[in-house]
Amino acid sequence: MRAIVIAVFAAAVLAGDANAQEMTGAQMFRQNWTSAETASDGLGPIFNEASCHACHWFGGGARIRVRPDGEVAGAGVLLRHTFVDGTGDPHYGVQLQNKAVDGVAAEGVADLSALQVAGGLTRFLASVRFASGPGRTAGITMSLRAAPALDSTALVARVSNAAIIKGADSQDKNKNGISGRVHLLQVPGERPKIGRFNWKATAPRVEDQVANALWFDMGLTSTAHRAPQGECTSRQEDCLNAAGSQSPDLAPDFTDNEIAALADHVRSLVAPPTVPDQPQSFADAGCNSCHTPYMETEDGGSVALYSNLLLHDMGEGLTSYGGEGSARPTEWRTTPLVGFRGQLPDHRYLHDGRAANIDEAIRWHGGEAQRSRDAYMALSASEKLKLTSFVLALMSSMPVPPQGE
Ligand code: HEC
Ligand code: HEC
Repeated sequence: MRAIVIAVFAAAVLAGDANAQEMTGAQMFRQNWTSAETASDGLGPIFNEASCHACHWFGGGARIRVRPDGEVAGAGVLLRHTFVDGTGDPHYGVQLQNKAVDGVAAEGVADLSALQVAGGLTRFLASVRFASGPGRTAGITMSLRAAPALDSTALVARVSNAAIIKGADSQDKNKNGISGRVHLLQVPGERPKIGRFNWKATAPRVEDQVANALWFDMGLTSTAHRAPQGECTSRQEDCLNAAGSQSPDLAPDFTDNEIAALADHVRSLVAPPTVPDQPQSFADAGCNSCHTPYMETEDGGSVALYSNLLLHDMGEGLTSYGGEGSARPTEWRTTPLVGFRGQLPDHRYLHDGRAANIDEAIRWHGGEAQRSRDAYMALSASEKLKLTSFVLALMSSMPVPPQGE
């Protein structure tokens, strides 16, 4: 088994001067940002990629290739390193930034390899080659996150808070073995917010995640994240020095209007899905207890989503080792199943992309979904194929966004 670096296959470069004020959301999404051209300090000092597009290729998600010998290459996979309680590494913070602007050392590079486990399933192993700092801290756990395709994001945004709360059954009062709960995000000085985006439902609004992405993944500031040093910690002196001349009072790199334009672009990627006929086995196997076909929207309508947007304990096989917000290591948000990701090249499934196809994704289900997984395993080969074909059709129920310039 050999491991290689997570490499970017390619990145689209936009010609011309970058000035966020004059760009549309689509252009900002594709733009390769640099350290000099924006209002505050621009890209970095440390970052993962210079554009949204590098990880969310034309609005899709991570592109991952696993070779027969276990080599994993891809774009759009992040490494989080935290203690079990979710606090970040004291030197490197919660996310490994593998790139840096000139004169600043990157944190390190994660080498990924695929490990065959029981039943022909594959899990990914990450080992980090640190490029700066003290190296691995005792007690720090590592967990991968694949960039999700942004194909259900606009639909998730429309669901009402009331509908999410209504689906929760954290005490399992109906005794079906499933105890989904709302991810309540604590915001100092404010009422808790309901998380709905990301693999652990850690962001309440598209705008929040856009600002998170700019800051954590690219080191770009906004009103939500003003610190020009981005995710570098107080122990990373070269990073602090590089950002140090920038006053936090300077206008942020992105105004609220620019964040809104980026969020509008993300929401524009989605066309109404054409939902195929649902086979009886989907309900019989209990998939619909979590992958709820329809959710009520803020305006009183409904959207086909195939998710309740709740957190579920998915068992030790799917642990992230560290928590996020109040989500425990084994808890994940039910992934919406509608979209266009089923048609994307090099797309893989589950939070770290370990599943090559839908059958593998189902076979990783454990914890609250164990019963459902077992019901799937008990189906005949042709019934299994009918069910996975249905899910693939759901995930191909929207047209792929245009790939032109
Ligand atoms: C380095 C790779 C990377 C870059 C660059 C990146 N993302 Fe992401 N994105 C991710 C990952 C990984 C997640 C999942 C994070 C999680 O679950 O905690 C994500 C999640 C999201 C989501 C949530 C989708 C949903 O439906 O739950 C949105 C929206 C998003 N990104 C938009 C953006 C935008 C806009 C940009 C550019 C400003 C961007 N991302 C840049 C990797 C990236
Ligand atoms: C207890 C709730 C629950 C049940 C029951 C359940 N799932 Fe899931 N499902 C989840 C969660 C949570 C995830 C995300 C897990 C992760 O990424 O680690 C998920 C992920 C998936 C994915 C991967 C989606 C992607 O794009 O990565 C597929 C496919 C899927 N489920 C299909 C099914 C099918 C089919 C059934 C019935 C046999 C089922 N699930 C039953 C909660 C559930």
